[in-house]
Amino acid sequence: MSEFDIINFENRLMANVFAKRPVVITRGKGALVWDINGKEYVDCMGSYGVALLGHSHPKVVEAVCKQAETLISCHASLYNNKRTEFLQKLVSITPKGLNKAFLSNSGAESVECALKLARKYTGKPEIIALMGAFHGKTMGALSATWDKKYRKPFQPLVPEFKHVPPDNLEKLAEAITDKTAAVLLEPIRGEGGVRVPPDDFLPRVRKLCDEKGVLLILDEVQTSFGRTGKLFGCEHWGVTPDVMCLAKPFAGGLPIGITVAKEHVMSAFKVGEHSSTFSGSPLVCAAACAAVDVLVKEKLVGRAASLGEYFKAKLEALQAKYKIVKEVRGLGLMLGMELRYDVHSIILKTMDKGVLILDAGRNVLRFLPPLVIEKEQIDKTISVLDEVIGEEEK
Ligand SMILES: Cc1ncc(COP(=O)(O)O)c(C=O)c1O
Repeated sequence: MSEFDIINFENRLMANVFAKRPVVITRGKGALVWDINGKEYVDCMGSYGVALLGHSHPKVVEAVCKQAETLISCHASLYNNKRTEFLQKLVSITPKGLNKAFLSNSGAESVECALKLARKYTGKPEIIALMGAFHGKTMGALSATWDKKYRKPFQPLVPEFKHVPPDNLEKLAEAITDKTAAVLLEPIRGEGGVRVPPDDFLPRVRKLCDEKGVLLILDEVQTSFGRTGKLFGCEHWGVTPDVMCLAKPFAGGLPIGITVAKEHVMSAFKVGEHSSTFSGSPLVCAAACAAVDVLVKEKLVGRAASLGEYFKAKLEALQAKYKIVKEVRGLGLMLGMELRYDVHSIILKTMDKGVLILDAGRNVLRFLPPLVIEKEQIDKTISVLDEVIGEEEK
């Protein structure tokens, strides 16, 4: 099928909810993808953070092929060896105490489970989230997401959700009442512009939640699996939540959501109170086992930390060079560059020159490359940005 036909058919046959870019991607390897015409791109979108191990990592491919020949689906009402293997690997890397998991298929589902769990465990209805937060677009997750453009068309949303200003402990403390079940937040706000909180914020939130007897749920859908230079974002501040939401890269590119909680919290769920047909399918779990092994064996967490510093320093050099660059933010290979205006045209121009970059709101460029990205590929990204921003500033 031609490029033209593919674009036309997708536009005609698929719900028109994605801000499409005019390119047909057909192949990927490591931090590179190629379009239907064979043009190469450095992939700093990383499938919105999913392709953390690089595209089609050989170990993931091998595990998926082997498992596909053995057993693809197995409902969680039956036991399965691959599911058990993955659960063991999972709890061997999660922060201490987070050792009971519910497996699902996406980030939003991992949040839905956490919200239901918080209500069930505490017997209270209210959830407090942050202004600027993004937790997904299903009804519960959407109720915690902040952006009006996502929320407004679907009101009324789930009741008893409140939003408070970010990084403001006093406002958060004031908002907590005897109806509050949980505080839900991202350690670093991704969609909200790659915003890293002040160093004392998360530890003080943890203390506050303990004092008030409310659960702390951390949405690590974007910040986990080494992305920020630590296995989990919360490790930067030595904080362990009661419930953690995981997804994106955990199955090496296959769909997965994970809600992992302290045992006494997860035990609040009784049989039948939560489930999903695809929960912990052998195929996805085989991919996830391989993904965890690759992350550990290839020491990708350390790589994210060191390459992140390299990448960030280069972005900061562009900030020093161009007035339209307002700020560079982020940790590890979760980086943002805030411009003084809309980034849309920059994203299209860098794509033309062979670099895919994400946005995070109207005026932030966001970089979520695979952790296997090479220095030369970072250099190419920087030189393309240099060229494009230079042209814009003329
Ligand atoms: C922090 C966070 N939570 C939840 C989600 C929703 O994940 P999904 O799109 O897999 O439903 C996202 C997606 O970008 C996210 O960044």
